Amino acid sequence: MITFYLKNLEETEKLGELISSCSAAGTVICLDGDLGAGKTTLTKFIGKHLNIEETITSPTFSIVKEYEGDLKFYHMDAYRLLSLDEAYEVDVERYIYSDGVFVLEWAEKLKEILPENIVSLTLKSGSDINQREVIMSGKGKIFDCLVRGLKDNDCFRN
Ligand SMILES: Nc1ncnc2c1ncn2[C@@H]1O[C@H](COP(=O)(O)OP(=O)(O)OP(=O)(O)O)[C@@H](O)[C@H]1O
Ligand SMILES: [Mg+2]
Repeated sequence: MITFYLKNLEETEKLGELISSCSAAGTVICLDGDLGAGKTTLTKFIGKHLNIEETITSPTFSIVKEYEGDLKFYHMDAYRLLSLDEAYEVDVERYIYSDGVFVLEWAEKLKEILPENIVSLTLKSGSDINQREVIMSGKGKIFDCLVRGLKDNDCFRN
């Protein structure tokens, strides 16, 4: 488990850029954290750096939205799902094992069915309104790439 900090939105964008550069077909990025922690904001930055031109908006009500940039991009918000059955109803496995990048908000809700090779980021509000603490865990290519990227990037160390 690794903890690092985002001082402001610019650093959240840097993290989004790093995540996009580590992503490949089949990458699963899990986001957790309270309402307003910054999950959708980070997702937008990941999409921006995958060259998605369409505006990415929160899929809280539609549950899942699909986009296309350098890679296919699937954005799901599990907040409103009441059971795993409801996740299967929206064909969650199609996104977990996909030909693109899958970003999942409120991933904790689906943890029983998530594979090992994913990265999980939990965002927490900090003392300053624009600051966030990030707790990162995971396994596999995406996790290793992010660990390396964070080491190379001084700004996340504060
Ligand atoms: N460093 C930062 N990183 C991310 N968001 C930030 C940061 N600083 C300020 N913010 C603001 O915090 C808010 C985060 O809202 P966002 O919708 O991304 O949260 P969320 O975690 O997706 O919430 P929800 O659980 O409702 O989906 C935005 O208004 C964003 O501009
Ligand atoms: Mg959100």
